[in-house]
Amino acid sequence: MSDACQATSIVIFGASGDLTWRKLIPALYNNFKKGRLSECASVVGFARRDYTDDSFRAHLREGVSQFSPETFDPAVWEKFAALIRYFQGNLDQPADFPRLEASLRTLEDGPANRLYYLATAPEFYAPIAGYLGAAGMSRDDEVYGAWRRIIIEKPFGHDLASAQELNHAVHAAFDERQVYRIDHYLGKETSQNTLFFRFANTIFEPVWNRRYVSNVQITVAESVDVGGRAGYYDTSGVVRDMFQNHLFQLLALVAMEPPASFNADAVRNEKVKVFQSIRPIALSDTVRAQYEDYRQAQGVDPDSQTPTYAALKLFIDNWRWKGVPFYLRSGKALQRKTSEIIIEFQRPPHMMFDMPENSDFSANFLALTIQPDEGIHLRFEAKVPDSDQEMRSVDMDFHYRDSFKDRSLPEAYERLLLEALDGDASLFTRSDGIEASWQVIDPVIHGWTEQNNPPLVSYKRGDWGPAEADSLLGRDGHVWRLGHE
Ligand code: BG6
Repeated sequence: MSDACQATSIVIFGASGDLTWRKLIPALYNNFKKGRLSECASVVGFARRDYTDDSFRAHLREGVSQFSPETFDPAVWEKFAALIRYFQGNLDQPADFPRLEASLRTLEDGPANRLYYLATAPEFYAPIAGYLGAAGMSRDDEVYGAWRRIIIEKPFGHDLASAQELNHAVHAAFDERQVYRIDHYLGKETSQNTLFFRFANTIFEPVWNRRYVSNVQITVAESVDVGGRAGYYDTSGVVRDMFQNHLFQLLALVAMEPPASFNADAVRNEKVKVFQSIRPIALSDTVRAQYEDYRQAQGVDPDSQTPTYAALKLFIDNWRWKGVPFYLRSGKALQRKTSEIIIEFQRPPHMMFDMPENSDFSANFLALTIQPDEGIHLRFEAKVPDSDQEMRSVDMDFHYRDSFKDRSLPEAYERLLLEALDGDASLFTRSDGIEASWQVIDPVIHGWTEQNNPPLVSYKRGDWGPAEADSLLGRDGHVWRLGHE
C-alpha cells in the first residue's frame, strides 16, 4: 500500500438510518472536501433497504445538502459520491457477512484497511461484532499491515452488567486497541479545548483544586423534548442518555490529573481514575423530574417514571478534590440549549470593602461554554466608576467566533472519524472507563426505581428544571450559574 493513497473501506452498518444521513456522511464528505479523506477510501453502506448504489447516493446527497448546506458543493459531492457503495444485507443473517467480505475484497482489489461503524440499534452491536469475527473480518491483516477497527455508538450497555457483557462480546472478536467507543461530546472542539485550557497554560492549574475551588457545575440543557425518539427514550431516561456518557466525560476532562503525554492510554488512564474516585452518590443528593406533558407523547408509557431531567451532587475523593461538590444537571424541554462547565472559586477570606447589607456579590467563576456561543468567560468583581465602594460583576471573554474568525467549528463526528482513521483513541472511551462510569450510575438508577427515592417530580416546559434542583445547591449555599446570566 502506498502512503500516498491508503486504501481504506469504511463500512457503515445501519446505513439507511438517521445517524448516517444526518451526521456520518456529512462528516465524511466534509473531511473529503478538506482533503483529509483519501481518494482511495470507499464508503460502504450496509442495510436491509432496497437501494442501488445510485439511489443510495441520491439519498445521502440530500442529507449532506440539508445538514451541511454551507459546505455542500455539487462538484465535490460528485467526486465523493464515487467512493460510495451500497450493500444490501440483513443484520440477522450471519451468512450476509461472508457475502459482505467477498464484496469488499472485490471492491478493494488488494490489501485495505477497514473501519466498521456500528450505527445500528444497540441490540445489534454484539451480534455484528460476533459475525465479523466469525467471518474472519475482525483481525488485522498482519501480512500487509492493513488494520481493522470498529466504532461503536452509544448507548454502550444500559447498566454495568450489560456493558460488561457487551465488552466481553466485542473482545471475543476485536482487541481493545481496535475498539473505538464513540461519545460525540468528546468530538466537540470546546470539550477538547478543556484539556488545552488546563494543561497548555500555567495560570489556571495552580487554582484548580480544593484550596481555591468552591464547587463545580456541569449543565447540559436542551430545549428540545423527546420528539420522535420516545420509544428509545422512555426505556432509557436522562441518566443513561446523557449522564453516564456526555456529562461524565465532561466531568473527567475537568477533574482529571495532567497526563504525562497526550496519548490515548495516558489520557484515558487519568479519566478512569476520576470515575474510580467518585464517592457513591447519596440518593438524597439526587433529583429526578419529568416535564409536564411527557406522558402524553406518542410512544411514552402513560404511567412512565422515566426522568427527562436529573440533577445530582457528587464528590471526588482524592487529594485535589476532596470535599468540593460537583453538581451535574441535564434535561429536555428546558429554557434553552446550553452546555457549560462552571468552576466557581471561593470568596475572598476577608472582605475589606463596605458591602451593602445582604449584598450577594458573586464569587469569581470561570464558565467554559461547550455550546452554543463557544468560548470561555471569567467573572470577577470590578469597582463601579464614580462610586465609593460599589462593585459589580464583569466578564473577561473569549469567543471562538471572534478569535478564530477564519475557522468554523467542525461537527464532532468529523474529528472523531478522522481520529479513528488515524488510529488515535484519545477521544474514545476505553472498556474500563465505560464500566467505571456505570459503576457510579447503576446504584442511582436502582435506588430511584426500587426505593422510589427521591420521588419523581414534575417541571414546566421552558423552565430550568424543578425547584428541588435549586434546593440541591441552595442547602450548600450555592446557586446554579451560567456564563452571561
Ligand atoms: C445524544 C442523546 O447522545 O445527545 C440525545 O441521545 C441528545 O438525547 C444529544 O439530544 C445531545 O447532543 P448535542 O450535541 O445536541 O448536545
